Amino acid sequence: MSTPHIQAEPGQIASTVLMPGDPLRAKYIAEHFLEHPVQVNSVRNMLGYTGKYNGKDVTVMGSGMGMPSIGIYSYELYNFYGVDTIIRIGSAGGLAPELELMDLVVGVAASTDSNYATQFNMPGIIAPTADFDLAMNAVSLCDELGVRVMAGNILSSDIFYNDQKDALLRWKSMGILAVEMEAAALYLNAARAGKKALCLLTISDKPLEGSGLSSQDRETGFTQMMKVALELVQ
Ligand code: ADE
Repeated sequence: MSTPHIQAEPGQIASTVLMPGDPLRAKYIAEHFLEHPVQVNSVRNMLGYTGKYNGKDVTVMGSGMGMPSIGIYSYELYNFYGVDTIIRIGSAGGLAPELELMDLVVGVAASTDSNYATQFNMPGIIAPTADFDLAMNAVSLCDELGVRVMAGNILSSDIFYNDQKDALLRWKSMGILAVEMEAAALYLNAARAGKKALCLLTISDKPLEGSGLSSQDRETGFTQMMKVALELVQ
């Protein structure tokens, strides 16, 4: 079996998948954190690897940028490969004043300016949400590891360069912690499939202040988040 976007054979993908946006991150994680990684996907260069962490099977695969992209990969993983849990590991722009560069954010819910949910034809507005146990365990792990973390509502936006200049300020005024571009579609696909999802984010920039991480700090922040994500693998 393969799908239009994933060439892996049945059984080559673990029940938990870690998803960075960048497929080269997936390669880096496989090479530096997994034991015996095997490449399971290269269609469109969306690299995916399966290996072991602490004796547990785990797959790490890129999602690409934006909700159409993570929508495709998470749908195929949940519905065609029997994946149970997808943990997105990404970066985000911090909006909450308390957030510093390199802090972690656990996306408990993902508000959005996207129309992704209209396909489900709900008779109201559905709130895309993380799996509660995963979110709680992620916060506990951060506390144990001494990692600064905030948990709450994030924004999954379709627009990186927004012509509406006050859009982020308006989201911030509703308590949104950080902006990224994928979690809402992931959470909605998980809900529809009856599966689990979580979005973990490292604050890489503060778009309302114009600050951002150096590439060295990006690496350090990412490694910290990786450790939390890998410890969440059941
Ligand atoms: N990912 C990291 N920083 C971001 C930002 N400022 N907006 C959207 N996605 C992001």
